[in-house]
Amino acid sequence: LERHQVAFIGSGAWACAAAKLVARNCQLSSESTGEFEKAVRMWVYEEQIGDRKLTDIINERHENVKYLPGVNIGDNIVACPDLLETVQGADVLVFCTPHQFTRDICRQLRGNVNLDAVAISLTKGMRVRAEGPQLISEMVRKNLNIDCSVLMGANIAKDIGNEELSEATIGYAVPANGELFKRLFETPYFYVQLVPDIAGAEMAGTLKNIVALAAGFVDGLQKGPNTKAAIMRAGLNEMRSLAERIYPTVRDNTFFESCGVADLIATCYGGRNRLVAEAYVHAYQSGSPKCFDILEAELLAGQKLQGVLTSDEVQSILQVRGWEADYPLFTAVNGIINGLLPPTAITEYKSAAITSQ
Ligand code: NAD
Ligand code: 13P
Repeated sequence: LERHQVAFIGSGAWACAAAKLVARNCQLSSESTGEFEKAVRMWVYEEQIGDRKLTDIINERHENVKYLPGVNIGDNIVACPDLLETVQGADVLVFCTPHQFTRDICRQLRGNVNLDAVAISLTKGMRVRAEGPQLISEMVRKNLNIDCSVLMGANIAKDIGNEELSEATIGYAVPANGELFKRLFETPYFYVQLVPDIAGAEMAGTLKNIVALAAGFVDGLQKGPNTKAAIMRAGLNEMRSLAERIYPTVRDNTFFESCGVADLIATCYGGRNRLVAEAYVHAYQSGSPKCFDILEAELLAGQKLQGVLTSDEVQSILQVRGWEADYPLFTAVNGIINGLLPPTAITEYKSAAITSQ
């Protein structure tokens, strides 16, 4: 039997922490079952770090010094700046870039990947088109004409890089592919559950980034745990409602997996969207407001926020369909990030909706 050749597309914080899991399993498998080839190529969006190329540093030190410093991702990860060279000969593709870049990547890959390849997306986000929303897994499936599962969960990159116990959910359509990806990602500190619900897992992973902004506003306003819990509960309800309304196949139970309530908790306490939203409130209250782009650049050292873009994308769906009143928390977050409402509107989201009825 031919060994699977894995290609990893993306090299940010989560991409590197997840690549470390894959590198471990490919190394072990090449010494035992032979299911996976040992070497894993990783496409890196090339940049200069001082006088050196990031790909050269990764290949020499086995560490992404910019996006996941201090973590050895494995000496069988081979960083490559050329996208098409990265996927050449690969039959297992892992997508993990910020969602705003995936479309361009898919366009470049069209016609250039193995027809018998299978894919998985770790990206949390969606695209909005005139015809309606498109999840990243759908984008990969449509553009490349291959099956695409998703892996979503309570997965703060740095902590998984440090081998802290975590869980994730794989959403699959083809059971054999779900099983294959479980073998590729699962380790003694990273447990994987399978659900036959790609849209539910991916919508949960995508929409929780909006709720994380709300949680950051609550923290910035220095409200206590009752308020934060109230906002998270309302957010979870809006996530579930919208996911089930757009994709009627979505299962309620998916929201009780790692990709649902667990990811919501992790992100609302330890994520980047929360951090930047909290800083937004501090700047606003100091009388020198700052926009999210500036805060992202100041606080995240090149890492990318997904929640702000996702909020705008989701809001355009709500507006077109006349659903805004049904999603008052999402709508309040969108008003705040666009400067139409003060951050205090987050704790008044319910009364604003009641008044407008
Ligand atoms: P990141 O935010 O740490 O890094 C940004 C990445 O984007 C870098 O690799 C950078 O090189 C790349 N980039 C910049 N400009 C680009 C361009 N024009 N084209 C292509 N790439 C470009 O990345 P990440 O944390 O790996 O996030 C990827 C996805 O994983 C996101 O959807 C995120 O929501 C999700 N995710 C992140 C975490 C986490 O803790 N960081 C956890 C779970 C899921
Ligand atoms: P942030 O992008 O807000 O850091 O969330 C990371 C995440 O998705 C954890 O599962």
